[in-house]
Amino acid sequence: MRIGVFCSGGDAPGMNACIRAVVRAALAGGHEVVGIRRGYQGLLEEDFHINAEGQPRMTLRCVSNILQRGGTILHTSRCSQMYKEPGQRRAAEVLHRHGIDALVPIGGDGTIRGAMALSRFYPGRIVSCPGTIDNDLCGTDATIGFYTAVSTAVEAMDKVRDTAESHERLFLVEVMGRHSGYIALYSALAGGAEIACIPETPTDIPAIVEQLRQMKARGKTSVLMMVAEGDELGGAADIQRLLQEHQCPYPTRAVVLGHLQRGGCPVPEDRLLALQLGAFAVECLEQGHSGCMVGVRDGRPVRVPWADAVRGHHRVPPELVRLLEAMSR
Ligand code: F6P
Repeated sequence: MRIGVFCSGGDAPGMNACIRAVVRAALAGGHEVVGIRRGYQGLLEEDFHINAEGQPRMTLRCVSNILQRGGTILHTSRCSQMYKEPGQRRAAEVLHRHGIDALVPIGGDGTIRGAMALSRFYPGRIVSCPGTIDNDLCGTDATIGFYTAVSTAVEAMDKVRDTAESHERLFLVEVMGRHSGYIALYSALAGGAEIACIPETPTDIPAIVEQLRQMKARGKTSVLMMVAEGDELGGAADIQRLLQEHQCPYPTRAVVLGHLQRGGCPVPEDRLLALQLGAFAVECLEQGHSGCMVGVRDGRPVRVPWADAVRGHHRVPPELVRLLEAMSR
């Protein structure tokens, strides 16, 4: 097979490890790999990774020393042309012309939707890998990049806690997650935040202010509040304003971590996940599978039909929401 690999949507730490796994597993299986640069946009523009011999083929050495690097050597993009039929037809035509008979797209829900649209016109096999810090795809315990984003957020929280404690303030720390509270909830637990405002649970400002008053009465001198950018009341600045309007008992400050969370060296969990999934995607293609995402459930690789991966919401574990409540005394 001639397998095309690319990254699409927001980058995520571990994408390079996944590219490396796809390339090495595919070459070991006697296949060729074409690296498509800049996601679907690069595919439409026939922008391929060129190896040291000047050929549009990925060699073993193209993926040397990238396992530990953040970002993606293939670059990435968001491509609006893939929403419309002419773009989808053109992408299929480019793949056909270059003899690419199979694809491994690495990305989040937009990447999967692009692959679903493309498959209407492209007869080749497509097996995608979940690469997004948001952990918002169903059918896999985690997406590549999630653990690193949580680790980055927790490192920032530890620093914010120092200043919060010195000044006896409440800090709102906004993390990414357009539709998902995964990063906010996991980092709240791991970083010792008292409260998490996430899209999955109602954010009740009067109830939070009452909780804060009780904390203050119990002698708590500083508070960290994690806010998912997709909370129904808005981001950290919006919630800060609402807290002030409701006579929050602590002085407040807000910090937005933003794209910091998408960079940096992947943590070992993301590297292992990426290696396992990249190699498994190639194995699935070899076995004739298509139209699915690979994921990991209870430590084992699984195939998830695209429709299931993007249908609905990857629910945050309710027991972890309750655990945070129990810990925030
Ligand atoms: O990759 C997903 C994500 O990190 C979302 O959590 C966030 O809303 C979005 O990307 C930001 O994307 P952009 O890089 O286009 O600003």
